[in-house]
Amino acid sequence: MSHTKVRSTDAGQSVLKVTTQTLLEKKLRREPIAALTAYDYPTARIADEAGVDLILVGDSLAMTVLGHDDTLSLTVGEMLHHARAVRRAVRRAFLVVDMPYGSYHLGSEDTLRNALSFVKEGGAEAVKIEGGRRRASLVEDLTAAEIPVVGHIGLTPQSVLRMGGYRVQGRSVPEIEELLADAAALEGAGAVALVLEGIPRELAERITAAARIPTIGIGAGPACDGQILVFHDLFQLTFDPPAKFVRSFGDAGLLLREGIERYHRAVAEREFPNDSESYHLPRGLAWNLQESAVPSSLAS
Ligand code: KIV
Repeated sequence: MSHTKVRSTDAGQSVLKVTTQTLLEKKLRREPIAALTAYDYPTARIADEAGVDLILVGDSLAMTVLGHDDTLSLTVGEMLHHARAVRRAVRRAFLVVDMPYGSYHLGSEDTLRNALSFVKEGGAEAVKIEGGRRRASLVEDLTAAEIPVVGHIGLTPQSVLRMGGYRVQGRSVPEIEELLADAAALEGAGAVALVLEGIPRELAERITAAARIPTIGIGAGPACDGQILVFHDLFQLTFDPPAKFVRSFGDAGLLLREGIERYHRAVAEREFPNDSESYHLPRGLAWNLQESAVPSSLAS
């Protein structure tokens, strides 16, 4: 049986939809998976059309777009709002939606209800939850409800209070053993992929070699089956110094700042709009716009 699904774009072209099977086949063929976060229609559409394999509506949304200091306050409603916008844009990529902090911490039934809303209302093809072995039974429950789950281990930003900050994980023997056990437990519970964040490259390589499911790294070195970055990091749209693992692929911040300054100047100097950017009365329509001809309702 073929697992390929065909979707058509607005331009009427057919595209091969990326599915969990595609990701698995890429791992087996050792073809790197390119993943990126997106939170709105235009950037998701550009990422999808640029051929990214997986798009994550990440809870980094809280910081990158909504201006919070961490991801903890993000709500299910806020996530759904952005997931719907991204869903409208994405035709080809595999679409994953992050479960925000608190949306999978109150037991299986509540987790299922929230995850179902991400699938049914947000168009998610998988949900992502943070944490290792302690999430294994939730991963089983979601998988039993036909909801694919992407695990996320290592530096898990939703654990910032417990961790006392954001720090690289898996740098001691006990931590390495824990992360290996976490990866195995999530795979055993049915996870379809694993995000490995903020761990030494050697450990990520070991997990990737042992895992049958694809690993997608962020700050986890080059040996992972795929890489993911936050959209705003890729284009210098954040206002803090970037983490060590971030590489800029363009300076959209500078582009926007310069563009807005030029716009501002053009307005201030009455250079914008010019005649060709203005509407005109139809040719031949003689219209006396002298004050005397203006209807009294406009003249006041
Ligand atoms: O929310 C997010 O952007 C993420 C990625 C860092 C993997 O979880």
